[in-house]
Amino acid sequence: MCCCTFKKRRRSGDSYSSVEGACMCRMWPLWKMILVWGLVAVAGLILLAFILVFIGFPITFWLSYPLQRFLTFIPINSPKNPTFDDPLSYGIQGAYNFYVTVQDYYDPDTLTKIGAWLILPESDMTNVNSANITDILSKTDKDILFYFHGVLANRAKPINQYGVFRKKFMVIAVDHRGYGDSGTDVEMSEPAIVSDHVQLYKWLRGINQKSNIYYWGHSLGTGISCHTLKKLKAESIVPRGLVLEAPFSTMAEEIHYVLGKFFGWLAYFNATMVKPVGDNGILWQSVSNILDVDCPILIMNAEDDGTIPWTLGQKLYNVAITQRDISKQGNATFVHFPADKGYNHNDVTKDPSVPQLIEDFITTCDNFWSNKT
Ligand SMILES: *[C@@H]1O[C@H](CO)[C@@H](O)[C@H](O)[C@H]1NC(C)=O
Ligand SMILES: *[C@@H]1O[C@H](CO)[C@@H](O)[C@H](O)[C@H]1NC(C)=O
Ligand SMILES: *[C@@H]1O[C@H](CO)[C@@H](O)[C@H](O)[C@H]1NC(C)=O
Repeated sequence: MCCCTFKKRRRSGDSYSSVEGACMCRMWPLWKMILVWGLVAVAGLILLAFILVFIGFPITFWLSYPLQRFLTFIPINSPKNPTFDDPLSYGIQGAYNFYVTVQDYYDPDTLTKIGAWLILPESDMTNVNSANITDILSKTDKDILFYFHGVLANRAKPINQYGVFRKKFMVIAVDHRGYGDSGTDVEMSEPAIVSDHVQLYKWLRGINQKSNIYYWGHSLGTGISCHTLKKLKAESIVPRGLVLEAPFSTMAEEIHYVLGKFFGWLAYFNATMVKPVGDNGILWQSVSNILDVDCPILIMNAEDDGTIPWTLGQKLYNVAITQRDISKQGNATFVHFPADKGYNHNDVTKDPSVPQLIEDFITTCDNFWSNKT
């Protein structure tokens, strides 16, 4: 519908003549207008999304230490609404919930409660009716395993893994500060988490002088355990053995892998998304911390791991065997499971060979330590 009148110049030969035009208006039909404006809107939204994702996000990440901390720790409860005081609700028999109070790294006057589970070894569930943790730990001579979980987890997550560990160990599964119900409202940082674990070791040794103490880290827990062992060594403390499941080399390399998938092509990727994290002290430099691990090491990766590429575990292994003095500091073993097993990031302990690997590793550690003394 169009009701304009206008003059139109019409060309005839070399001269122009004006003619009166009635309804010559070229208004587009409604569907075309909608289409064009729709396309403009979509293009605008794509541009906006692009700016937000590839410019806004890196800049926000760069400027926000809380965001860097959140995305490198992901301290979200998984499983949700955990019932830590009732391990049986997860089907785990012979397990007890307990807390250890540690001094805060930043302010020794501030005390933080670290939540943990004590999981009895399969071979000795006789204490099943006793919930006196001190009593159980002081009387046992079983090998004790500190288990360190990774991001997006709490101590109620690796239920199946505990079933494998408890074949050989008494397990202490710890929630690092900021995870689960460990130290809510506390500063989560690499030195603070490591300081808590050094205190936990001393707490355990204070109660139990007989057992061998092992460490098992998964994912971020491997970074935490390597750094903890380095700190322990500074106090002349060396545990019996260290198992690294799905480890990475450094946080920087892990960020390069994960965030690099989407942002790696940006010229400012390193400057905004990798470097600032290290500048803020989130390093997890396992490649250098492992040089101060003075006990045998077992490294396990799955070749189909989509979260941490298994080549980072291989890198760590190469450092462990070439840059450590194996005869004095202990050998390292590297096991990588083929992709077709489908273990990915969380499930290498499902492999039927793992109980034997653990047993062999314990033997390696026993031999190493008996040759030392
Ligand atoms: C727990 O056991 C320890 C060591 O056997 C003992 O000293 C302590 O009194 C016990 N605590 C309770 C509450 O029974
Ligand atoms: C990232 O930046 C750091 C420091 O600026 C540099 O040492 C490192 O080599 C860079 N990494 C890559 C992959 O560009
Ligand atoms: C270290 O362990 C590997 C097997 O993982 C073995 O082949 C090698 O001989 C060991 N090295 C030493 C010095 O014991």
